[in-house]
Amino acid sequence: MIDKHAASLFVERYRSLAPEGGVACNEVIGMILAHRSVRAFAGEAVCDEVLSQLVAAAQSAATSSNLQAWSVIAVRDEQHKARLAELCDNQKFILQAPLFLVWCADLSRARRVSPHQLDGADYLEAFLLSVVDVSLAAQNAAVAAESLGLGICYVGAVRNHPLDIAKELNLPPGVFGVFGMSVGHPDPAKPAAVRPRLPQSVVLHFEHYGTKPEAKAIAAYNEAQGDFQKEQGMKLIDWTSRVASRLKDAASLDGRDILRQALQALGFKLR
Ligand SMILES: Cc1cc2nc3c(=O)[nH]c(=O)nc-3n(C[C@H](O)[C@H](O)[C@H](O)COP(=O)(O)O)c2cc1C
Repeated sequence: MIDKHAASLFVERYRSLAPEGGVACNEVIGMILAHRSVRAFAGEAVCDEVLSQLVAAAQSAATSSNLQAWSVIAVRDEQHKARLAELCDNQKFILQAPLFLVWCADLSRARRVSPHQLDGADYLEAFLLSVVDVSLAAQNAAVAAESLGLGICYVGAVRNHPLDIAKELNLPPGVFGVFGMSVGHPDPAKPAAVRPRLPQSVVLHFEHYGTKPEAKAIAAYNEAQGDFQKEQGMKLIDWTSRVASRLKDAASLDGRDILRQALQALGFKLR
């Protein structure tokens, strides 16, 4: 399908003209292009049937060697959510959303089912495999949720206090909360907007990696971000400065600079 709606989604995502030849689209791509993080939720609950469909979507993602090295914890209890929100930088939308999912890398199940010791699971590769698995699964659930008219926001702040989160969720050794995800019905009074992304020329390379055309495109993106932030009444900070400050030093990692030690305490040797 090539239509005006597809072109407008493209323009919204990139804040630049759509390709002259038109944009190929269908319902799925259209929905994916319209993603926006939702941080304001209406009170309505997310029922078990919907949760089950989200998990089915998650489990339908590809998974390395079919190991399915992940688990997800669904949290609905208000007090439980409040304790988790506190550990996640007190982000208020976590309390507001009726459902909080904690997506976990999980090597503990493999250890439980194996008749012998799993030395291979001690390696960084196994940890990475489980993080990749859970990320693919979670994004499938996110797309499924959005297709049902729900809104989601990922919560990386779950990694700010990994040991406390593990304790709060009763995680056995070999299970690590990689990120959370607030899920709920978007508050119609506070609609979220599509946040522009880097021009494709910056992220798409043909045959070999190249950086030549980058600077001009990134300058244009900084402007697009500025426009978005003005429209949203957000603090103005261009993308380049945000990248530089977010990764400046250990202190800018919100406590996550101790992640390696925390992971080792949680049973990941990362050899
Ligand atoms: C792994 C991950 C962790 C995130 N953690 C947080 C978070 O803790 N708090 C938050 O408000 N947004 C969080 N986000 C949402 C990002 O800020 C958001 O996706 C990004 O700014 C792009 O905006 P968009 O999702 O609306 O397109 C996270 C996103 C990802 C993928």
